[in-house]
Amino acid sequence: MTKNVIVTGGTRGIGKAISVGLKSAGYQVSANYAGNEEAAAKFENETGIPIFKWDVADFEACESAIQEIEGKQGPTDVLVNNAGVTRDIPFHKMSIDHWRTVMSVDLDSAFNMTRPIINGMRDRSYGRIVNISSINGQKGQFGQANYSAAKAGLIGFSRALAQETARKGITVNAIAPGYIGTDMVNALDDKIIDGIVAQIPVGRLGTPEEIADCVAFLASEQAGFITGSVLTVNGGQYIAA
Ligand code: CAA
Repeated sequence: MTKNVIVTGGTRGIGKAISVGLKSAGYQVSANYAGNEEAAAKFENETGIPIFKWDVADFEACESAIQEIEGKQGPTDVLVNNAGVTRDIPFHKMSIDHWRTVMSVDLDSAFNMTRPIINGMRDRSYGRIVNISSINGQKGQFGQANYSAAKAGLIGFSRALAQETARKGITVNAIAPGYIGTDMVNALDDKIIDGIVAQIPVGRLGTPEEIADCVAFLASEQAGFITGSVLTVNGGQYIAA
């Protein structure tokens, strides 16, 4: 039977590649987006994947969107918590808004999305949850005290929830992408990007598809013995234990 997937932030960047990759692997995908209407409409036209607009930082909005999607497409088998934003600035200049925006979109969203879905997965004794963390949640990054904290939080969340759900056929894993060629990275100064690429042993930025392939693997039935893990995909930039 076709499995249903929700991908947050699923119409652009890494999320777009995840949505497209899972669709071509045979899943029925629903892609969330927050604000970029033009990109979302283009994505829907190009891919035929239905799009749903809501703010993943808002718990009630997540609850009602999940209800709407499940009403149309059936229960969620795979959840990909991918949505994320940056507000890079050294900590001594960081405002509470810089902090809260990143924590709520990048970390609270994992609670907001997973909590309404988890009991259905438990009842059906099956689920795959993939949380998109970051190299900067593993090593920390100058200018990203907020983002590094949120992305490290996703790793702790994955490891704890993995233990709680293992007996219920639900796996929970994190992927820690390095620097991938998306709008988020391309927004950095060219000089900064050159400096980053110089630190990547593979010698280039990653591609969104390289992350999507990892998601497809962790989402598959064959990956049932992998839970609580962090898959590091960074071209060798940071080799974590
Ligand atoms: N380590 C140590 N010192 C650093 C540094 C670093 N990585 N980066 C900057 N500095 C120093 C500078 O040399 C400078 O020192 P001086 O004042 O002595 O000259 C000082 O910090 C201020 O630097 P800037 O002029 O660059 O400061 P700024 O306030 O204009 O910008 C910044 C700071 C916004 C953090 C900018 O440096 C920046 O954008 N850095 C890149 C951050 C980054 O990698 N973000 C990742 C985005 S992509 C992503 O997040 C996806 C993912 O998951 C990987």
